[in-house]
Amino acid sequence: MNIESISDTILDESSSPQQRHDALNAFTTACSNFSGILPDPSFDAWADDSLLPSGVAINPEAAAHCAHDYQRSVVFIRGVYAAIKALRLRFADAPLEILYAGCGPFATLLMPLLGKFYPDELNITLLDIHQRSLDSAQLVLEKFGLGDHGVSTVQDDACVYKHPQKLHLIIAETMQKSLEQEPQFAVTANLAPQLIAQGVFIPQRIDVSLSLADLEKEKVFYDNCGTSNPTLLENSPGRYPIATLCSLSPDNAVTQRQAAQYNPHSDKLELEPRIVEIPGVANIEQLNAALFTRITVYESYSLEDYEAEITLPLHCYELEPLCGGERYMTSYQLGAYPKFNFELLGKK
Ligand SMILES: C[S@@+](CC[C@H](N)C(=O)[O-])C[C@H]1O[C@@H](n2cnc3c(N)ncnc32)[C@H](O)[C@@H]1O
Repeated sequence: MNIESISDTILDESSSPQQRHDALNAFTTACSNFSGILPDPSFDAWADDSLLPSGVAINPEAAAHCAHDYQRSVVFIRGVYAAIKALRLRFADAPLEILYAGCGPFATLLMPLLGKFYPDELNITLLDIHQRSLDSAQLVLEKFGLGDHGVSTVQDDACVYKHPQKLHLIIAETMQKSLEQEPQFAVTANLAPQLIAQGVFIPQRIDVSLSLADLEKEKVFYDNCGTSNPTLLENSPGRYPIATLCSLSPDNAVTQRQAAQYNPHSDKLELEPRIVEIPGVANIEQLNAALFTRITVYESYSLEDYEAEITLPLHCYELEPLCGGERYMTSYQLGAYPKFNFELLGKK
């Protein structure tokens, strides 16, 4: 499969899940053959990860493996394609200035699309903290015959990087489920102000919410469904939404960070806390507390609960055993290991 048929299959709304998996596997196999980097979710168990001040930057092998979070990759690639086409119409007179932050070794969310555009339509900068990933991305670009696209690479921390001019498009996927561990929040807060007016930041929005749910039952439901049906699940008995704990968008990232305060209990800088209460529901002992993640990639391109590894629920064991009426202070901690914290306040 050549890069054109790989991208056509991924973009074709009528392609089957199996065809899209095959296309992404063909993409990573070709990239690995070119660069020698093999996708591996647990390569060297953290040893090659970079522990940055604002979160963990996973190693090139683990970053390559992200391509195999199939629905994630498909939805992001489609969203990026739709955004570039919209921006080409909006800014027709000059090449689009594009920054792909945290590109990993295969620049998966952009590489399959480059052949769809003339080299003079796009000015692309690939950025990653790992030089090995940047070297790999350059090699892959040349081997796919896309070398004339004049892509530059920058080795830097996306949480502090300043681009020399305003950007039309920023792509950044440096996250795990429920915004834990990786620096998506800090990357968004640093890069979003560098967008030109009417530019696009991908993803456009990430919502993390707390609910009570029967996680075992939901897992069976999704395993049997094959595809997710969030509307059905939302309305199904057993899911009790409590609160949205964080809505991250390029418009609100800086304000949220400015309002962050030092918490002496956790010794961390935290976003504005909020108080949540466990609802008093029947059969509460059969339920779990969990964080659910939803991602608006670009306009109608979105990822709902369970659709991707990065939107799987995160079980909050620290809230169990559940007790109706108990109140918790919740906050999102910034710093080297971003995550949500819960502090028991007592019962109403
Ligand atoms: C989850 S992987 C995603 C890889 C690729 N963008 C994809 O979507 O398939 C995150 C990538 O971002 C990079 N990264 C994470 N935090 C970073 C930071 N603060 N500055 C630069 N790169 C970072 C990691 O090195 C890794 O390559």
